[in-house]
Amino acid sequence: MCGIIGIIGKDSVSERILEGLKRLEYRGYDSAGIATLVNGKIDRRRAEGKLVNLAERLKDSPLAGDVGIGHTRWATHGVPTENNAHPHTDGKVAVVHNGIIENFRSLKKELTARGRVFASDTDTEVVVHLVSDFLDQGKTPREAVQETLHRIEGAFSLVIMIAGQHDVIFGARRGTPLAVGLGEGEMYLGSDALALSHLTNRLIYLEEGDWVELRCDGLQVRDEHDNDVIRETKMSAVSGAMTGKGNYNHFMQKEIFEQPAVIGDTLHSFINPATRSIKLPEMPFNIGDASRLTIVACGTSFYAGLVAKHWIERYAGLGVDVDVASEFRYRCPPMPKGGIALFISQSGETADTLAALRYAKSQGQKILSLVNVAESTIARESDVVLQTYAGPEIGVASTKAFTTQLTVLACLAVTIGRENGTLSANDEAGIVGALTVLPKQVAEILHHDEEIRKLAVNIADARDVLYIGRGLGYPIALEGALKLKEISYIHAEGYAAGEMKHGPIALIDPLVPIIVIAPSDDLFEKTVSNMQEAAARGGRVIFLSDAKGLETIGDMASATVEIPAVADFAAPILYTIPVQMLAYHVAVHKGTDVDQPRNLAKSVTVE
Ligand code: AGP
Repeated sequence: MCGIIGIIGKDSVSERILEGLKRLEYRGYDSAGIATLVNGKIDRRRAEGKLVNLAERLKDSPLAGDVGIGHTRWATHGVPTENNAHPHTDGKVAVVHNGIIENFRSLKKELTARGRVFASDTDTEVVVHLVSDFLDQGKTPREAVQETLHRIEGAFSLVIMIAGQHDVIFGARRGTPLAVGLGEGEMYLGSDALALSHLTNRLIYLEEGDWVELRCDGLQVRDEHDNDVIRETKMSAVSGAMTGKGNYNHFMQKEIFEQPAVIGDTLHSFINPATRSIKLPEMPFNIGDASRLTIVACGTSFYAGLVAKHWIERYAGLGVDVDVASEFRYRCPPMPKGGIALFISQSGETADTLAALRYAKSQGQKILSLVNVAESTIARESDVVLQTYAGPEIGVASTKAFTTQLTVLACLAVTIGRENGTLSANDEAGIVGALTVLPKQVAEILHHDEEIRKLAVNIADARDVLYIGRGLGYPIALEGALKLKEISYIHAEGYAAGEMKHGPIALIDPLVPIIVIAPSDDLFEKTVSNMQEAAARGGRVIFLSDAKGLETIGDMASATVEIPAVADFAAPILYTIPVQMLAYHVAVHKGTDVDQPRNLAKSVTVE
């Protein structure tokens, strides 16, 4: 996902734009650039790779100017080179862009035929030449931008700057978010609140299809039909302090260690400790009447949906279907009358999940979303929004967002069970009791950090790693494997432990560590049998269980991690912590880029 920032300012902007791009680094990128207006002319610096390279470029050759735009690029069309880095310009118009211009090929052909010369392989450049062409036809800047927006198709957000136009920049939002920041005598545009958090906390989130004419002293927002509209100004809760690493070596490490606090914050927003009951936000329908629940998400958020399926079916007696968004959206399944659909997304901007939401809405489902970004697109298109209070999650590998998602989903399961009569008040109080001690138990596991780091060193040379679990442990096996593969680049697979005999056991040899998720619950004995099958074939077993479980297996495993005894219900949240820590330490030992792993973006806003 690319990052965008623009400033129409009253003094020099390049350093402030660079700072904004630094706050967008977490989104993942492979090149960056800034352009400013200097005495009416467009000046530009770009660099391949990390922002340090652009900063070097700016140090050697500073950029003046009090109007400017900046960009971090995650390559979609065109390889990640300096030449393909944004901003793109023809000397008259400069553009930065997030998303995809789907009809760029036909537009490029049309513009080339009209003599326009393209300098890059990107889809973005068609916007430069369209605006420039309309200006050459004598249109005003506003008309040129307006006409261009009528010609381009796809999902994108744009910021446009025009040579000689010191008093205006333009922004547009269609499919990927763009916010206006209100300053004192200057104005800003940014991909999200984080990008602008060093400049202002007064934001206007553009709606789908909006475009904006921004001046130092004001703005004019128009909707997709070019009608003037007023959008609400909101105060952003994001502060600069939330985006620092503090005393940690990586954002991921900080976010792992924030989990006791943010799980507690999320619990306290839904649980009344006095009555030991759960209160979710008001819903315009009785969730207890739902005929069926469909959960759709991607990646880690999809695994949270798998955990929720177990909880809601077992404790609320409601049938649940869970699907990955990229499959669901194109399968276009029939959906149950009176059904509810839940979309889980940390960023609230994942393209496949958003498309799935729109399909479910078209099928008459009530739409719930569970997000970490309140102002996100998925939240704005939902009937009811459940929010995790994890704070900004900067590391590309999701950690605290996942455990706070599970925390909210646990509250949702209890609420459905209470509303449809499956759960008694006593049952609810019991589950609430198990949830309220979680922050303390998570903190206890974090004290094992050095022990888990040593374990990590032992598996860092592995070619393949297997994670296995049963029941509520199975989705955590999947999540553990995803954490390891996405930040250490070691091939890892999560499997239902009961599936070992159906294939994966062929992989077992001394070079393949097996991480076994095994709380001493009603499936424990069966999981131990699977572990024994692996150990008997020379597999290096790392066994995660509570004291009772570890006592049962004796010295069968090569290594163990003791997890505090926990109610079955809450086990998935607790057993996630050691697999996060294991992945983190393996990646650190291997020296990979923990916070911005290769090829990955924090939020996949394009297909
Ligand atoms: C998880 O560590 C990854 N960052 C990725 O799988 C992520 O969970 C997925 O892209 C979904 O993102 P979302 O929650 O923002 O929709």
